[in-house]
Amino acid sequence: MNTIYLDNAATSFPKPETVAKAMVRYLNEVGAPLNRSVYQNAQDAELVTLSLREQLKRFFHFPEKATHVILTPGNTYGLNFLLKGYLHPGDHVIVSSMEHNAVMRPLLQMPDVSFDRIPADGQGCIDPDDIHRLVRPNTKLILINHGSNVSGSVQDAEAVGAIAAQYGIPFGLDGAQTAGHYPLDFARFQLSALSVPGHKGLLGPSGIGALLLTEDMARKLTPLIAGGTGSVSNSEYLPEYLPDRFESGTMNLPGIYGWESAMTYISERGIDALRAHEVELTKRFLEGIQDIPRVRLCGPTGMENRVGVLSLDFLDRDNAAVSFELEQRFGILIRCGLHCAPSAHRSLGTFPKGTVRFSLGYANTEADVDAAVAAIRALA
Ligand SMILES: Cc1ncc(COP(=O)(O)O)c(C=O)c1O
Repeated sequence: MNTIYLDNAATSFPKPETVAKAMVRYLNEVGAPLNRSVYQNAQDAELVTLSLREQLKRFFHFPEKATHVILTPGNTYGLNFLLKGYLHPGDHVIVSSMEHNAVMRPLLQMPDVSFDRIPADGQGCIDPDDIHRLVRPNTKLILINHGSNVSGSVQDAEAVGAIAAQYGIPFGLDGAQTAGHYPLDFARFQLSALSVPGHKGLLGPSGIGALLLTEDMARKLTPLIAGGTGSVSNSEYLPEYLPDRFESGTMNLPGIYGWESAMTYISERGIDALRAHEVELTKRFLEGIQDIPRVRLCGPTGMENRVGVLSLDFLDRDNAAVSFELEQRFGILIRCGLHCAPSAHRSLGTFPKGTVRFSLGYANTEADVDAAVAAIRALA
């Protein structure tokens, strides 16, 4: 049986062909470290890494220099670097009630940092105006999930950014589910920090991500990891300048080569074309399931404020059993459960049962969606 991959919110698959080719080229033909040696292959590694930073800078309309695009071991690391490197005992943070555990768990590891959650409605959308009543004198950060990995709802980051700016509070965004899926504009959203994974909508390999920091935020951030950077080797202190200050240790170069080629692919297709394809498929999915009884869509029904992450609750069925049958009988690969986001499920009224999550990607087709809708109808 052929399989249909609808688990792109977990990680995108398949990758553009050039991604594996670039990684193999690095492993078989380049093999040099970054920032350490100066022979020709090392220059190749420098240039590809610079190209990745420059592409991310352009893609996210990042107003700082490419030096402020910090490469991380992934989105979870970027969020931890931000929260743990920036907050101090006594600080207060505003998050949304749609956060992933990549935000909530680090926050809860800091018992002397308090937080409030902006409530979300039953479709997973927050009202940015709620922020006004949550701001306290010690609020040091507003950090929200841009697109939900459970409901697909996309928050109005521009409105949140305007409110954050009004109070002079830095604004950080978890772009895990929107980067590569939905327009994301660092400057327009008035961000201080943006964390993204390489392996989801940006089509790169896993084990790499980026944390984009304004100069002001970078100066306030304590590097969590310290070590060799290949630079200022006469000193036992970390360099002051970026990106070295936040990039100790040997970097994930196969990941950098793979992600750089993925970003080239994305730039060639363009975010508008990628988004248009996803909108078309999502609409088809939503229309297809509209008349199926006893299946509840947990997320927005319209397209303006959502990505192609579609969570369903099969009211008369055990969602885990549905998920098992989707693979066994129909070859459809999805993710079931709580998706590392218990707070989001509480907001949607699906805790602790969880949902069956279908998530679309650039490589999916109308036929994939039709097969999923037919399977949902049969299983409901
Ligand atoms: C909204 C959100 N935030 C954070 C993460 C963590 O990203 P990663 O597992 O790539 O580090 C995910 C992953 O699913 C996510 O969906």
